[in-house]
Amino acid sequence: MHDFVYREGELYCEQVPVSRIVKEVGTPCYVYSYSTLVRHFRAYDSAFKNIPHIIAFAMKSNSNLAILSLMAKEGSGVDIVSGGELYRALKAGVSPSKIVFAGVGKNPDEIRDALKADILMFNVESSAELRAINDVAASVGCRARVALRINPDIDPKTHPYISTGLKKSKFGIAADRALEEFKLASSLKHIEVVGVHKHIGSQLTEVTPFVEALKKVLKLVELLKQDGINIQYINIGGGLGITYSDETPPLPQELADAISPLIRDLKVTLIMEPGRVIVGNAGILVTKALYLKEGEAKSFVIVDAAMNDLIRPSLYGAYHEIRPVLEAAGHRPKHQVDVVGPVCESGDFLAKDRSLAEVKPGEALAVMSAGAYGFVMSSNYNSRPRVPEVLVKDGEIHVIRARETFDDLVKGETIPGFLK
Ligand code: LLP
Repeated sequence: MHDFVYREGELYCEQVPVSRIVKEVGTPCYVYSYSTLVRHFRAYDSAFKNIPHIIAFAMKSNSNLAILSLMAKEGSGVDIVSGGELYRALKAGVSPSKIVFAGVGKNPDEIRDALKADILMFNVESSAELRAINDVAASVGCRARVALRINPDIDPKTHPYISTGLKKSKFGIAADRALEEFKLASSLKHIEVVGVHKHIGSQLTEVTPFVEALKKVLKLVELLKQDGINIQYINIGGGLGITYSDETPPLPQELADAISPLIRDLKVTLIMEPGRVIVGNAGILVTKALYLKEGEAKSFVIVDAAMNDLIRPSLYGAYHEIRPVLEAAGHRPKHQVDVVGPVCESGDFLAKDRSLAEVKPGEALAVMSAGAYGFVMSSNYNSRPRVPEVLVKDGEIHVIRARETFDDLVKGETIPGFLK
């Protein structure tokens, strides 16, 4: 459910016509709905209300400061994967006691900054990393709280690029080596073992892989107990999918109903790292048709947004629904088209072989479900300034990131003296 609906003949975000945003902010731009974000967060949070839990919003999906501070106000923590994300999280007012730090390649500076900020824990991905964290904690003079990330070897049945829990994946520690690694961890002086972590992939549309992976984790927790290692936190990662087209992913409540009974009687706090399910359908990318072009074998709608603004179609072959901002335009005859951007790459498309109602140059289109892994994966390729982000709340438009200027494009670049 989201707040992008047709009303009085045009697409609205909450009480604001998208055409007003186009007029005031221009295209392309990302538009997020405040009430959708809040509703999604609360649905997830309240589904787990019967068990102690922390939601650590996976901020890699959308790391705008305004979005993060909205999450923090709702009581969310964050899952971070870099020093830059730690910086943003703290700046947005996220409580360090709800920050967990994942990723296979944390560097010593990032580890030090996170220890100094006193984050809740590191999700550790290898024994080499464990030793590195131990060394940095020794130099800071503290003990680092850690969870070990286990690779449960469960097929999440999603796109291979976003599967993370299989044996061949770079993520996590193999389940059959886990016990050994936990023993190493608890022998290190500056490490305090507090949890187990797993995340098997993204855009999961079934509950079963979550349950199977958790069962593996629980077996391990039991073995650890026998070895005197007491786990206080079980982190099941993120990954709950959303509807881009006709997927029917489980609701957070269904996930909670499947998972809660398995851990209710353990004295543990559940940590979850949802990203996409909170922000994905709370955002759209608005673009404008520039030209129509009849190629030899195909018809193209050339729009002002491109793969540098939203890379998911190019990178994963991902489907994003495209709707006209003017409702009546959606009733025109349909044609099969590619919706492409101005970037000089054949891979620059937002939709391929799509049956789309006729579009006229100058008309605005909404690329739906673009709130997660949209702006955050955008780039300046082809020297295209990154587009603005807008948050709509109570009938008002808030620009939460300004459109970049040409000056922004060259910021930090210098021409050395010998070239002048
Ligand atoms: N926790 C960990 C350790 C993760 O690696 C991820 C996502 C999440 C949580 C959040 O997963 P979510 O709830 O958003 O599915 N760029 C890709 C998705 C990459 C996901 C990476 N990890 C896309 O656009 O589909």
